Amino acid sequence: MGFREYRVGSILFGVALSTSMMITIYFPGLDISSVSSTSVALEKQLTYGKTSAFDYGDLFLHGDDKPIKVTLKKDPATGAAIDEVSAYVFKPGTSLPSGLVHKHILGAAVQALSASLGKTGQVSEEKGGVFLVRSSIKDGVETPYIEFATATRGWSVNATLAAADQKILAGSGKTMFIREGCWWCHTLLPEGTHDWQSFGRPPVLGDFNGESPTAFGSDRKAPDLLHVGSRNSSREWMTLHFFNPRLVQPHSIMPRYDYLWGPKDANGKKIDLKKWDEEFDAYREGDRIYPPEVPEPPADSEARMLIDFALNLK
Ligand code: HEC
Repeated sequence: MGFREYRVGSILFGVALSTSMMITIYFPGLDISSVSSTSVALEKQLTYGKTSAFDYGDLFLHGDDKPIKVTLKKDPATGAAIDEVSAYVFKPGTSLPSGLVHKHILGAAVQALSASLGKTGQVSEEKGGVFLVRSSIKDGVETPYIEFATATRGWSVNATLAAADQKILAGSGKTMFIREGCWWCHTLLPEGTHDWQSFGRPPVLGDFNGESPTAFGSDRKAPDLLHVGSRNSSREWMTLHFFNPRLVQPHSIMPRYDYLWGPKDANGKKIDLKKWDEEFDAYREGDRIYPPEVPEPPADSEARMLIDFALNLK
């Protein structure tokens, strides 16, 4: 057989391979990168930070290297009363979300507004800072953008944390959601079928810009959680349910997450899980009128992070 046949064969093979690669990878990539971030995507990026899974910033998924979401009722710089607003605090060194690092992720219009009105060009990971999600009219369309409040309003990290009405550790909580495998049973993706009647608005493509990982889930054995904080905003219910789901749903198949409380409760009292179990068994047998008390999770516990994450899913 001559050399010529090999050559023709190789060229044909190369053409077929690159065409199929273009169709499966490159063209959809163009399509996806032309989608602009929605305000939901901006909020998620600023709440969850760079990534919520295995990463050099948090090798063992402890929820480190995450921003803190706060609610403010007064201006951290001047102390004047303001309408309640959510701000996102990145302590110095906290990894920035991909939308602030890779500009194309935001989409052209969102990027342009963030740079001009939001002064995001002045962001530095080393110094950290405080961010807001805002919106403005661009070319007749309401467009969300990121405001770097440290540059625009002089809100420093420390002053903002001190002025905060509420600190929400939802960024660390998403790491817990990934690490604990909640996605084996729960989805974060209501579908456009009858689903929305129980689980709320299905997301749109632009809601996911810059989120990593998306944690859609695939196998639903339990309710979708994308908007769970809107149906149930009770911190107390979440606390009982995570400690032992059978406390509030007697036939629940959901595992207990009492170990996320750590060794001590919020008052520094040792948590005795064995004693708790014995008392709960006695309650189930009818030998006690009330179930044992659920300890209050410490402010920096993994349980607190997970509860904040669930309540923040609005
Ligand atoms: C083995 C499957 C399973 C796993 C794993 C699981 N859950 Fe659940 N979850 C359920 C089931 C079933 C329900 C509905 C019954 C109930 O409320 O306990 C539920 C209910 C919930 C609810 C209330 C939903 C609503 O509509 O009010 C929340 C919030 C929740 N789970 C969060 C979590 C989180 C966070 C994790 C991971 C730490 C997790 N679940 C892990 C099965 C699971």
